[in-house]
Amino acid sequence: MNTVAQLLSFATKELKTDKRINNVEFEASYILSEVLKVPRLQLALIREKLVNKKEQEKIENAILERVGGKPLQYIFSETEFLGLVFKVSQKVLIPRIDTEFLIDRVATDIKEIFLSAEGYLDRSGFDRPNIKVLDIGTGSGVIAICLKSLIPCLDIDAVDISQAAIKIAKQNAANNEVLINFFVSDLFVKVSDSYDVIVSNPPYISAEEYLQLPDEIIQYEPESALRADEQGAYFYRRILDEASSYLKPNGKIYFEIGSKQALKVKRLSEKAGYRITNIDKDYADLDRVITIEKA
Ligand SMILES: C[S@@+](CC[C@H](N)C(=O)[O-])C[C@H]1O[C@@H](n2cnc3c(N)ncnc32)[C@H](O)[C@@H]1O
Repeated sequence: MNTVAQLLSFATKELKTDKRINNVEFEASYILSEVLKVPRLQLALIREKLVNKKEQEKIENAILERVGGKPLQYIFSETEFLGLVFKVSQKVLIPRIDTEFLIDRVATDIKEIFLSAEGYLDRSGFDRPNIKVLDIGTGSGVIAICLKSLIPCLDIDAVDISQAAIKIAKQNAANNEVLINFFVSDLFVKVSDSYDVIVSNPPYISAEEYLQLPDEIIQYEPESALRADEQGAYFYRRILDEASSYLKPNGKIYFEIGSKQALKVKRLSEKAGYRITNIDKDYADLDRVITIEKA
C-alpha cells in the first residue's frame, strides 16, 4: 500500500507526461481529493496515511483517463460553479467561468431594475414578486439554478433541446434544493408564457473556430452545445427573431457572446427591433455579455 504523499507524487509525475495539462500539481491533488473524499487543502494533513487498494485503483484509473484527455469534471461527473456543486456528463457542457459574468449581470439587473422598481428591495426582501425568467439552452442548468439560488423569488422556466441535458438539469436543481420548471424545447417551440428576462448562453462557436478548439473539447464535450451555423450567430438570430412574442413590454434579453460577436449581435438586434443597452467584459477584458431591450 502507498501513502497519500507517494500517490500525490506518482500522480504529478504521470500527469506531467501530458503536455496539454497545465496545472499538474492542482490536478494531482484534485484527483486524490475526489477519490479520498478529503478537501484538497487538507491532503497535506494526511500525507502519511495509507491508501487502500480500491482507492489506489480509482486514483490510477482517473490518472489514465486524464492523460487520455478526459476533463476532470467528466471523470468525476461533477463540477463546482459559483459555490454550488453540479453533476455533469458528456451530454452537457462543462460550465465555464465566462458564464459567471452572465449570471452576475442578470442577477444585478433583476435586483436593481426589476425588484427595486416594484419596491421589493425596500420591503421584506424577496417575498412574491411575479418576475419570470426563461433560460434557453440550459444544459446542466447552471444559469437557472444559480439565479434561483441568488434570488429565490424568481419564477424560472428553463429549456434545452436535449432530453439528456434536461434530465441532468433536473437532478442538479433537486441536489441544490431549488424549484425550476425544466422542459425540452427547441428554443421557443414549447414555450407559451411571457418573461421579464430571457437569458441564454447558446452555442456560438462558428464551424471554422470549432475545428481549432483543443482536442479535449472536441473529443469530450457535445458539439451541439458549442457549434452554431451562420458563423456562430444562428441562435442569436433565431432567439431575437422570435423573442418579441415571449418578452413582457419592459423585458430584457441577456446573451453570453463570443469575444468578437458584439457587433454582429448588435446588428441582428437592431434588425429585429431591439437595442443594446450594455456590453460587459470578462476578466480578460473581452466582450462577453450583452444586454438587449426593445428599441
Ligand atoms: C453553450 S451550452 C450552454 C449550457 C449552459 N446554459 C451553460 O451556460 O453552461 C448551449 C446549450 O444549448 C442547447 N441547445 C442547442 N440547440 C438548442 C435549441 N435549438 N433549443 C434549445 N436548446 C438548444 C444545447 O443542448 C446546450 O445545452
